[in-house]
Amino acid sequence: MLTFIHCCAWARRANMGCLGLFALLTLQCFQWTTAPAAEEVSWTYYGLVGQSEWSQYFPDCAGTSQSPVDVITTQTKYDPNLTPLTPLGYSQHGNKPFTMYNSGHTVVIELPEWMGIGGLPWLFTAVQMHLHWGSGGPSHGGSEHTINGLSADAELHVVHYNSELYPNVSTAMTQSDGLAVLGILIVTGEETNAAFNNILNYLSRIRHADQKVFIPAFDVQTLLPTDLGRYYRYNGSLTTPPCYQSVTWTVFNERVQISKAQLLKLETILYSSKAKDADRMLLQDNYRATQPINHRVAFASFSAESGKELSSGEVTAIVIGVMCGCVGLAVIVRFIVKTIRTKEPEKERKEKTQDVALKPTPEAEKREEPSPSPQTEL
Ligand SMILES: *[C@@H]1O[C@H](CO)[C@@H](O)[C@H](O)[C@H]1NC(C)=O
Ligand SMILES: *[C@@H]1O[C@H](CO)[C@@H](O)[C@H](O)[C@H]1NC(C)=O
Repeated sequence: MLTFIHCCAWARRANMGCLGLFALLTLQCFQWTTAPAAEEVSWTYYGLVGQSEWSQYFPDCAGTSQSPVDVITTQTKYDPNLTPLTPLGYSQHGNKPFTMYNSGHTVVIELPEWMGIGGLPWLFTAVQMHLHWGSGGPSHGGSEHTINGLSADAELHVVHYNSELYPNVSTAMTQSDGLAVLGILIVTGEETNAAFNNILNYLSRIRHADQKVFIPAFDVQTLLPTDLGRYYRYNGSLTTPPCYQSVTWTVFNERVQISKAQLLKLETILYSSKAKDADRMLLQDNYRATQPINHRVAFASFSAESGKELSSGEVTAIVIGVMCGCVGLAVIVRFIVKTIRTKEPEKERKEKTQDVALKPTPEAEKREEPSPSPQTEL
């Protein structure tokens, strides 16, 4: 798999088609895996092949629709067509254990093919889920997506592929409509999140890269936030090499909570190094920096202004309220105007009689001027 991806990256760099070059690549790959160049694909988050170097080996990482992004809520666009996402079969885990392994970059839990998500233009079938985290404990970053510049402590990604259009995830991951990933932001609180212990309890069995364990199957939906109706949606990419721009992202607005102890365990238990390696390297800070949004729009399934979607009842109430207000205002204005109009002729008449009476002397006119009539003072 890695070799295949490596070859594809090489072929892309050389501006050649993957499939057409298969025979040549088979030969090339053997050279590449034995040559020092093989080091190039052992990418990391920091160091020689850290994230700023990824694009030298995986050209897609320099694309203009990369992930993760910072979701600036005032710049999102409300889309009423974004209906709540429906997890399919997430709770029907069956009796077959899940396979969980340390990839050297994260912990991966493979998901059965009957799990999927509805609510997108195609049916997407679940493949795997994995996590991203930091190293400094609570409030020190760790999530990939940020909201208004704010990081969460960790992030869960549930990866699905478009099984209506493509035969498998390897094919789908290279297509613009190939993948759908759910992003769940994780923060720390006082309470232990029992659902996450279904994963965390077994991390000690896969401390080294490439180690694998079977874990009891569990209800995957319990890892998700309760509110699946409020989320951000945008077109992006894999957040790791080869960074293919094939992901329809759904980042939920509601964050899930785990305890400080749970976060600490996640941050300190795994190694990115293999069991046979002399130097142990902790697997930490495995999150990519946010990428420019460029031409893209992030859509919100809910209205950003009110903070919540308005029901038809609420809309009716607002319309009636505004109408009543307008009618009331009209009545008041009309009353005032009427009052002024009925008093004006009276005033004019009074002034006229005064005029006639005081006309002879201009001084008299001046004397009258400074004292204004009670009506004008209103
Ligand atoms: C995925 O599907 C393609 C096209 O049918 C096939 O060539 C490839 O071998 C499949 N890959 C895997 C990993 O099953
Ligand atoms: C993603 O890209 C497709 C194809 O260009 C487009 O139809 C769709 O509206 C985009 N979705 C989002 C959320 O921007």
